[in-house]
Amino acid sequence: MIKITNIKQSYLQGKSVVKVLNGINLNISKGEKICFIGPSGSGKTTLLNILGLLENPISGSVLINSKNCNLMSLEQKTMFRRQYIGYIFQNNQLLEDFSVIENVAIPLILNNFPKRFSLNKAKEILKTLGLIDKVNFKPGTLSGGEQQRVAIARAVIKKPFILLADEPTGSLDEENTKKVMQIIFSIINKLGTALVLATHNLDLIKKFDRCYKVDDGLITEYEE
Ligand SMILES: Nc1ncnc2c1ncn2[C@@H]1O[C@H](COP(=O)(O)OP(=O)(O)O)[C@@H](O)[C@H]1O
Ligand SMILES: [Mg+2]
Repeated sequence: MIKITNIKQSYLQGKSVVKVLNGINLNISKGEKICFIGPSGSGKTTLLNILGLLENPISGSVLINSKNCNLMSLEQKTMFRRQYIGYIFQNNQLLEDFSVIENVAIPLILNNFPKRFSLNKAKEILKTLGLIDKVNFKPGTLSGGEQQRVAIARAVIKKPFILLADEPTGSLDEENTKKVMQIIFSIINKLGTALVLATHNLDLIKKFDRCYKVDDGLITEYEE
């Protein structure tokens, strides 16, 4: 269970303070699927980064499984993230110096699993995502849809408690969008992982338990 309370965030831009989040409250239960919709600049990435412990809010609290994440040291946050949180970044952020299979295995290796075991697991998951022929390629040589499937594999290989996805289909055509969303949902349904996904594609929202519009620093439940 994830509980965020009265989250506020602002940034200094030049000499002025830009308020981005203005008191966000949200509870997410195990396995629940939540989506944030909102135009560019509305604060979706900021919110995901705060949920993912990549960024500290100026005020408010983030509780994950009753752990108050605000009180953790930087190192504790890193360890917590490695264990419990999967993140599909906007523009996927795959590492070009590593092959596809290495990219996917890295989260397990960072969690101290043996290298051979981690690579085998990576191979397994890449096979289920239809990428077995691409395991030794560099990410940059793959199509957009394929790269996004690699990013999904990397984010879910450690069976995270929560999966954060920042516009994971933003650069994909309709067919690949469908494919990628189907893959994300089938994986998280199997694992019981909670999903928090940011998008501005209104076609996607039917699949979620709850959708929120991010606007003016606040979230409001979105009704069709
Ligand atoms: N590190 C930062 N420093 C200054 N301004 C930032 C920073 N991160 C985000 N912002 C600003 O916060 C606002 C929200 O950004 P973001 O969360 O990326 O929105 P979205 O993901 O909805 O497009 C934007 O105006 C952006 O310029
Ligand atoms: Mg964004």
